[in-house]
Amino acid sequence: MPQPTIAPAKPNQSPGLDSPLRGGMPLKHVVESQQFTVPLLMELFERSRGMERVVARGGSLDYQNRIMTTLFYAPSTRTRLSFEAAMHRLGGRVLSTENAGAFSSEVEGEQVEDSIRIIGSYSDVIVIRHLEDDGARRAAEVSPVPVINAGDGKGGQHPTQALLDLYTIYRQRPLDGLSVAIIGELDKGRTARSLAYLLAKFDRVKMFFVSPPQLQMKPDILDYLEEHGVRYELESDIDRVIGEVDVVYQTRIRPERVRDVTDLRSYAIDSTVVQRMKADALILHPLPRTVELDKSVDADPRAMYFRQARYGLYVRMALLTMLLETR
Ligand code: CP
Repeated sequence: MPQPTIAPAKPNQSPGLDSPLRGGMPLKHVVESQQFTVPLLMELFERSRGMERVVARGGSLDYQNRIMTTLFYAPSTRTRLSFEAAMHRLGGRVLSTENAGAFSSEVEGEQVEDSIRIIGSYSDVIVIRHLEDDGARRAAEVSPVPVINAGDGKGGQHPTQALLDLYTIYRQRPLDGLSVAIIGELDKGRTARSLAYLLAKFDRVKMFFVSPPQLQMKPDILDYLEEHGVRYELESDIDRVIGEVDVVYQTRIRPERVRDVTDLRSYAIDSTVVQRMKADALILHPLPRTVELDKSVDADPRAMYFRQARYGLYVRMALLTMLLETR
């Protein structure tokens, strides 16, 4: 399968590019962030740079014989549509079930394993958003074609979101040595959980998990960070870290999970909070947002979240090529 031209990586952001692992670890499925090595991430990001140029010239026809199915049991705007746009930009075709809980045979009691076996005989790759934390893993275990986890459960992972989050940072600055505040409902935050695993792969990273104490990051992540010697702090006061960090990764807190609206406001970012951030800080949010990120921030040059969503297209195109080229 012909490959789009790949941009050279920035010299200071290519650890392991000469590693024998580069190109030597074909991806089979994408279920969780931990499975990505730094060389694999760099390969993905190089390809994503190439995809920016492919999209700028209108796309390619390289994958015109390939079919992707999107099987979503929960709502999505960005993930499903950017995957579908990615496949179209690569010249491929798309089968889509956007409300699989209502419009698939699950209504008749079919288990996800059976659905996946069937869909895998119709298409070359399956993108699934499942309601259970291990839904994507269950799908991958039986699938004859690559499965991509597009967000599972209420406290699982969302690895492709984390990949595009990391790519957004990578496009702006070196990944080694970053200090990152990850804010919100972290115990059930799929994107925050997946991003923490990815950031842990880089040298001298420090993470500040900022959350009401009852919604803090769960022990599985904290244990992983400790095992890998990654620095982190648990914090409940946004003011104590907001002026110190290179990246602010804001996420939602659902109102029903806090005592009252004052709790929500104390973790929100608006133009006043932004004034206390570093002049070159990056503000990311996986979106959708509600009150935790005020629209007054949108015009600030540090606001990356709409660019971040656009980068999702390039990263997902790159990921599809990596999964499909080995088949
Ligand atoms: N960030 C994210 O997963 O958005 P969607 O729910 O719209 O896909």
